[in-house]
Amino acid sequence: MSESTAVSGQNTIQESFLKRITALEAENRGLSDELETTRVEREEVRAKLFESLIANKKYLREVERLKKENAQLKRMPLFLATAIEVGEDYVLLRQHGNNQEFITTAPPELFGKIEPNTRVAVNNSLTIVRVLDRSLDVRAKVMELVEAPDVSYNQVGGLEAQIQEVRETVELPLTNPEIFAEIGIEPPRGVLLYGLPGTGKTMLAKAVAHESKATFIHMSGSELVHKFIGEGAQLVRDIFQMAREKAPSIIFIDEIDAVGSIRTHDGTTGSAEVNRTMMQLLAEMDGFRTRGDIKIIAATNRIDILDPALLRPGRFDRIIEIPMPGLEGRHKILEIHAAKMKRAEDVDLFEIAKETEGASGADLKAIVVEAGMNALRRNVTSVGRNDFECAIKKVLGDEVQGSEEAMRMFS
Ligand SMILES: Nc1ncnc2c1ncn2[C@@H]1O[C@H](COP(=O)(O)OP(=O)(O)OP(=O)(O)O)[C@@H](O)[C@H]1O
Ligand SMILES: [Mg+2]
Repeated sequence: MSESTAVSGQNTIQESFLKRITALEAENRGLSDELETTRVEREEVRAKLFESLIANKKYLREVERLKKENAQLKRMPLFLATAIEVGEDYVLLRQHGNNQEFITTAPPELFGKIEPNTRVAVNNSLTIVRVLDRSLDVRAKVMELVEAPDVSYNQVGGLEAQIQEVRETVELPLTNPEIFAEIGIEPPRGVLLYGLPGTGKTMLAKAVAHESKATFIHMSGSELVHKFIGEGAQLVRDIFQMAREKAPSIIFIDEIDAVGSIRTHDGTTGSAEVNRTMMQLLAEMDGFRTRGDIKIIAATNRIDILDPALLRPGRFDRIIEIPMPGLEGRHKILEIHAAKMKRAEDVDLFEIAKETEGASGADLKAIVVEAGMNALRRNVTSVGRNDFECAIKKVLGDEVQGSEEAMRMFS
């Protein structure tokens, strides 16, 4: 091999190395550019992710709000409509009562169940919230409301004066209508009982029906509004019709505030429905003026929000307060509920009555039941003083604590 050939060989190698180096440098530059781009992109993605997280939080809050609103809407009065046409993403409805037609949508879970002639419940903003059973037979529903209560006056403790008043206004005209005819006065038509929860209003109404052997029709204002959606007025008509057929009868309207409160007069369609029910009720109440054999007992624990139309003289003959039981009353109520209970020597119901100031009849009943449970847990056959003490703490405990807290806050 000559020297020149060796040199040229070296040059070629050098050249090829140089070329390779240049190529690698170019590749390196390309890669760092790419790295930079990726870095920028990563920053962008990170920023977007951050934004999404913020948006997500916002949506979660919105979902919470909507859930609450939805629950609220479901609690508001609903009214009835019939589907006329069901399209791909809309439902054409005709509203009962005013015959107005409108197009609305339904939540996906209800959409499949709606076909022409399906009856649905819509809320104030005309959204479908429930699909109703097609064969909701109002007459059948009325029949369900007829009860034969099994409560006598001596099971009601501490309300002697109130029982007396209800007997005069409701029982006497049912059992001895001739007395009123003789004296020549119009027999009273009904009473309104009002008072705190658990004081015995429902119980008293049942006792009157039982003792006067009248048909007892029990309807609840909140059911009229929430269960018999859109049929409240019709149901009221049917109830009075049934009462006439089965006279002598007592119509008991529990929670009358649900249909007869001033709050519902806010001009919305749902409240219009409630008002129709209420108007029908007033009309029926005025309608049987001359008949002596149907009586109305209504009850509420919110007399403060009742429509004055209901309280006007001539609607209810007496408005009777059912008070919280006093000491004597509590003693009586405890005796009634503990009548069949085996009690230990150390149990003095009068002492217990003294310790339970502020308890309602329902609370006292709960105390007796709880004391019995305590004895059962101890595996003994008679209920002792301590069982009662623990029961009082359990049933009234929270209330006492709550009021103590309130006292601290205001002192
Ligand atoms: N005066 C009472 N004498 C005996 N038991 C009572 C009395 N008051 C309440 N109770 C007991 O409490 C239970 C609930 O009472 P009731 O349903 O009559 O109360 P209410 O006044 O109608 O309450 P609400 O306003 O919540 O409807 C009764 O079933 C009964 O066991
Ligand atoms: Mg009641």
